[in-house]
Amino acid sequence: MKKTPEITRRQFVKGALAVSAGLAAARLLGPGAVFAEAAPEAAYDLARGTVRLLNGMEMPVFGLGTYTLMNRVAESSVYEALTAGYRLIDTAAAYGNERGVGAGVKRSGVPREDIFLTSKLWPTNVAMRDIDRRLELLETDYIDLLLLHQPYDDYIAAWRTMEQAVHQGKVRALGLSNFTASQVEEIRAVAEIPPVLLQVETHLHHQQHLGAEYLAHHGIAMESWSPLGGRPNTPLFLQDETVCAVAEERGMTPAQVIIRWHLQSGRVCIPGSGNPEHIRENIGALDFSLTDADMARLDALEQKAPYFPEMGLQEADTLAVMEGWSKGA
Ligand SMILES: NC(=O)c1ccc[n+]([C@@H]2O[C@H](COP(=O)([O-])OP(=O)(O)OC[C@H]3O[C@@H](n4cnc5c(N)ncnc54)[C@H](OP(=O)(O)O)[C@@H]3O)[C@@H](O)[C@H]2O)c1
Repeated sequence: MKKTPEITRRQFVKGALAVSAGLAAARLLGPGAVFAEAAPEAAYDLARGTVRLLNGMEMPVFGLGTYTLMNRVAESSVYEALTAGYRLIDTAAAYGNERGVGAGVKRSGVPREDIFLTSKLWPTNVAMRDIDRRLELLETDYIDLLLLHQPYDDYIAAWRTMEQAVHQGKVRALGLSNFTASQVEEIRAVAEIPPVLLQVETHLHHQQHLGAEYLAHHGIAMESWSPLGGRPNTPLFLQDETVCAVAEERGMTPAQVIIRWHLQSGRVCIPGSGNPEHIRENIGALDFSLTDADMARLDALEQKAPYFPEMGLQEADTLAVMEGWSKGA
């Protein structure tokens, strides 16, 4: 999965324009047709700056996370990000900031079709009005990718409602967050519209290589949450001796090195920030490459140490699912 091609910011924005062209075509065909035309597998292409999802849509591989940002900061951060060249924004119903995200999109003047908007649904008693509320707060007619935030309550029923939203043109693609491999299998077994992406805790101390293998088998894209370790752990990562040494050798910053490591590992990366300088700094991760030797040094920082061990892919469970495949299950 590891690749080390060059991508410049200009190419990234060009890739994002290709995303919007793909989405425009999808809109003409309607959601059913998009799935009928489905590509055979997710294809991560760092040179274009996009991953082609299972349903044929292209998604930018780099974006802005908005967890903990209040509406006012979410608005200014989304504005800063979009004017700096970001084209992917991640929010959630549970963050309480979709109104700010929507306002930031409007203020940026970037056409809606050039932006890939992800939101997440809390799975308790999901009804269509919950999805309509996301659209209302985000001031948009559609969400590009809607994730089920946690594997709680009746998540199968929630998935069914999300599928209806795709059929009604309110949502373009569906994904999961914090599900185990067994739970992903459960959704896949009943889904009319399969999940195209899993968002999970992934950082230098919890690298998720087995999980990545599992997801690749199904062509499901992988997105790292807390890619810099998350608040309040980021100093541990940004001041790490190896990260700082690689940063100095490449003439980049520690944050750019870590983000680049995620990208060259084949993951979609959405560092969170409410600081305009950090937002502009982080997109610089698109402007350089790490060597294979750099990647190996960063891979060696693995500790298999998640901050939220009870959430998302669990190694024993993932292994059991994958062993089932070799036994023909
Ligand atoms: N699905 C889930 O359950 C889940 C859970 C957690 C997160 N997420 C998503 O993933 C996104 C990223 O995760 P996260 O926000 O928790 O953690 P993160 O991206 O690992 O770290 C965010 C922290 O890094 C700091 N930071 C960002 N860029 C920096 C830079 N260049 N230099 C120094 N510090 C920098 C930010 O501070 P400043 O604001 O000062 O820049 C903030 O404190 C979230 O925003 C959210 O969209 C999803």
